[in-house]
Amino acid sequence: MPKVSELFFKTAIVFLILGILAGLQMAISGDHGAFPAHAHINLLGWVTSAIFGGYYALNPVKAARRIAMIHYGLYTLGIVIMLPALYLMLQGGRTEFEPIVAGGSLIVAAAVLVFAVVVFSAQTVRSASGLSPAPR
Ligand code: HEM
Repeated sequence: MPKVSELFFKTAIVFLILGILAGLQMAISGDHGAFPAHAHINLLGWVTSAIFGGYYALNPVKAARRIAMIHYGLYTLGIVIMLPALYLMLQGGRTEFEPIVAGGSLIVAAAVLVFAVVVFSAQTVRSASGLSPAPR
C-alpha cells in the first residue's frame, strides 16, 4: 500500500475511535447537543479520510506524486483544527471556538480542492488489459 494511503488510514482509524467515543458520550449522558460534531468527526475524520486512502491505494502512480502528500498534510491539519474545536463549541456552547472552526473548515475545503486537482489530472495510464496502471 502506498505511504499516503497508510497515513490516511491511520488518521481515519484514530478519528473513528474519537467519533465513537463522542457518540457513546452522547448516548450515555442523554445530551445529544454535540451530535453535529460527532457526525463530522465520523464523516470527515473517518469516512472521507478512508476514501482518500482507498483512492490512492487504487492509483499508486498518483500516490507517488508530491501533491498527494500535500493533500494529506493539508487535509489532516484542517480536520485536526476543525473537529476538536467544533466538539468543544457544541458541547459547552462556547462560541469563542467558532473562529477556530471556521479556520479549520477553510483548510479542509482547500485540501478538497487539492484532491480535485489530483483526481482530474491525467496520470493513471491503463495497461492493455485495462486492469492495472502501466508503470511510468
Ligand atoms: C458506537 C458508535 C456510535 C454511537 C454510540 C453513536 C451515537 C450517536 C448519537 C447518540 C447520535 C445523536 C442522535 C440524535 O440526537 O439525533 C448520533 C448521530 C449521528 N451519528 Fe452516530 N454513533 C456512532 C457511530 C457513528 C458512525 C460510525 C457514524 C458515521 C460513519 C455516525 C454518524 C452519525 C450521524 C451522521 C449522526 C447525525 C444524525 C442526525 O442528523 O440526527 N455515527 N450518533
